[in-house]
Amino acid sequence: MKPIIALNFKTYRESLGKKGIELSQIAAEVALLTGVRIVVAPQTVDLRQIADIYDDVFAQHADHNPAGAYTGSITLEGLKDAKVKGTLLNHSEKRVTEKQIEETIGLAKKEKIEVMLCTKDAEESARLAKYRPTYIAVEPPELIGSGISVSTAKPEVVTSTIEAVEKVAKIPVLCGAGISNSLDVKRAIELGACGVLLASAFVKSPDPKKLLLEMAEAIA
Ligand code: G3P
Repeated sequence: MKPIIALNFKTYRESLGKKGIELSQIAAEVALLTGVRIVVAPQTVDLRQIADIYDDVFAQHADHNPAGAYTGSITLEGLKDAKVKGTLLNHSEKRVTEKQIEETIGLAKKEKIEVMLCTKDAEESARLAKYRPTYIAVEPPELIGSGISVSTAKPEVVTSTIEAVEKVAKIPVLCGAGISNSLDVKRAIELGACGVLLASAFVKSPDPKKLLLEMAEAIA
């Protein structure tokens, strides 16, 4: 399968509104140039606008309730209507209960929306794999935003997660936390991951296009 670079814009000022559109245009160009799948997860308020100009957009979170009287919820139905292709779920900064994970994945399957389920380690990944998300993205919380890459500093987290998930179901595993450069990305693929999930290094880069191109070229 095509390697994946998933870019979480979080709620950084550097990724809001017009800046989020520019970052997504960069993702579109690099995906076209290299053939690597590049997913962007923009801020919720920018989702519909960005999904109009790029076809590989994920939400950063989706709720477990259907359409209806659920003030403030991000529904799977709403994401589908906005032409959003997938969603992150259970991100370290937006944890949900196991019941919510099960229900959200159920709704996502109905809407044919991909789910990238975030986990903190191999044990959690194996436990949640039974809900059959499209992807599992393992991210040790202590390395998130640290600039110290999981694939370099804690490769055993990646390999043990891949092994543990394999025993339950055939689900591609990504890794994230501290991914900062093309070597970190290359290393993740060498360890057996299908891709990486990253945020700060891309969003806050003085030259995000150069960085993303280097990362994608390293695994193209
Ligand atoms: O979702 C990706 C994220 O949690 C990792 O953040 O800034 O370490 O790339 P960062």
